[in-house]
Amino acid sequence: MLLQIPDLLSPEQIQRGRALLQAANWADGAITAGRQSAQVKRNRQLPEAAPQMAELRNLVMDGLSRSALFFSAALPRNILPPLFNCYTGDANFFGKHVDNAVRSPAGSAEQVRTDLSATLFFSAPEDYDGGELVIEDTFGSQRVKLPAGHLILYPSSSLHRVEPVTRGARLASFLWMQSLVREPERRRLLFDLDMAILGLRQQQADVADSAEVVRLTACYHNLLRMWAEV
Ligand code: NI
Repeated sequence: MLLQIPDLLSPEQIQRGRALLQAANWADGAITAGRQSAQVKRNRQLPEAAPQMAELRNLVMDGLSRSALFFSAALPRNILPPLFNCYTGDANFFGKHVDNAVRSPAGSAEQVRTDLSATLFFSAPEDYDGGELVIEDTFGSQRVKLPAGHLILYPSSSLHRVEPVTRGARLASFLWMQSLVREPERRRLLFDLDMAILGLRQQQADVADSAEVVRLTACYHNLLRMWAEV
């Protein structure tokens, strides 16, 4: 499932993030690439030790923590610290690849299975040409280029690439997470059920507290209990 989360960041957060990224000293993007992806990766990445890193990460995590849609879709168990990249000039594309299945936060022995990948756009789409994130989904190739502050959530198992940026610069954050629910089909079912219950609750006060909605809510939690790995 591909899911857009609109307006994850406020306009102020976008502006602040952009200013921090524009002042950054970038490193070669190969620093976090696996062997196959290093051969097709031509971009720049913010080094772990960059002075802006902590504030930028807080900004992204704050946006995620306020999004009920994100939590419902991802059911995150463990979110790896967000990273940041820039596509511009000669470092302007990332060829077709799959993300590494297991990653560790920098300097840590902890291992996190990457169930879901996400890209959060900091540049406005009109500020650069190209740079679409192309995700090969079961429904065919999806081309994603979103307004600043929007996030796309997609399965880490999918093949994907970033098209060459031919004008301007594409600034973004990218991150991976392990979900409480490993199987995409089960996550999808829980998400649909959660959204349907939410819709019923919002319709009318008498529906919100009805015995049926309470039983559906119990079904949601009991499915999650059955499938969650904690
Ligand atoms: Ni990737």
